[in-house]
Amino acid sequence: MRVGVLGSGDVGRMLGRGFVAKGHEVMIGSRSPKSEALQTWRAEVGAKGSTGTFAESATFGELLVLSVQGAAVATAIDLAGPESFAGKIVLDTTNALDFSKGMPPGLFVGLTDSLGEQIQRKLPKARVVKCFNIVPNSLMVDPKVAGGPPDMMICGNDVAAKARTVEILKAFGWPGAIDLGGIENARWLEALVPLWVRVAASLNAWNSAFKILRG
Ligand SMILES: NC(=O)c1ccc[n+]([C@@H]2O[C@H](COP(=O)([O-])OP(=O)(O)OC[C@H]3O[C@@H](n4cnc5c(N)ncnc54)[C@H](OP(=O)(O)O)[C@@H]3O)[C@@H](O)[C@H]2O)c1
Repeated sequence: MRVGVLGSGDVGRMLGRGFVAKGHEVMIGSRSPKSEALQTWRAEVGAKGSTGTFAESATFGELLVLSVQGAAVATAIDLAGPESFAGKIVLDTTNALDFSKGMPPGLFVGLTDSLGEQIQRKLPKARVVKCFNIVPNSLMVDPKVAGGPPDMMICGNDVAAKARTVEILKAFGWPGAIDLGGIENARWLEALVPLWVRVAASLNAWNSAFKILRG
């Protein structure tokens, strides 16, 4: 599969590395496709990895990953070209973290809306699945933590897209995912992250994620 990863930060490079490791072709999209960090990434992953503009990456991918800074979501989609998302699964990793008052962060969108919903509204023909946003990038691919893998939670309106996402998660070393329902549930997945930051800071455990214990 050809995967377009829109985002050159830690998440984009980690998931890009993961998709290449699982046998896919990946193009990371960025405003600076020749940046030093992306050149290093490209050298590391080999011939199945490439870099391009947001528009080139969105055209390239049969499946897209959106992993840009939360405040830049609309700009990045406009740069990518909204028409390139039509019909495609879009794995949305973004968070609406507001660091304007320092640490720990709040949310600049929340409770009655979310980035996941804004992305789905902006891209009505895309099949948006909120995924990966509640775990640190260090645990996104083949997560190894004491106590077994954490729980991934996802949501989205397209049932088939979520089923495909679960297949991808299994290939990435996850047992599956807790499906919370439609994309409106992204507001709660995104709200979990300021809580996660507080928990991680309190425990000084940044390589950590939530797990549900069942009785
Ligand atoms: N870091 C984590 O462990 C983690 C975990 C879960 C979820 N997330 C979420 O996943 C997303 C990506 O996080 P990250 O840490 O990898 O990187 P990030 O620093 O939050 O975002 C970097 C990306 O955002 C793009 N960007 C920033 N400002 C922009 C603008 N004005 N216009 C267009 N694009 C812009 C950058 O584009 P260029 O490539 O052009 O510089 C880059 O591709 C975020 O929403 C974050 O909250 C992060």
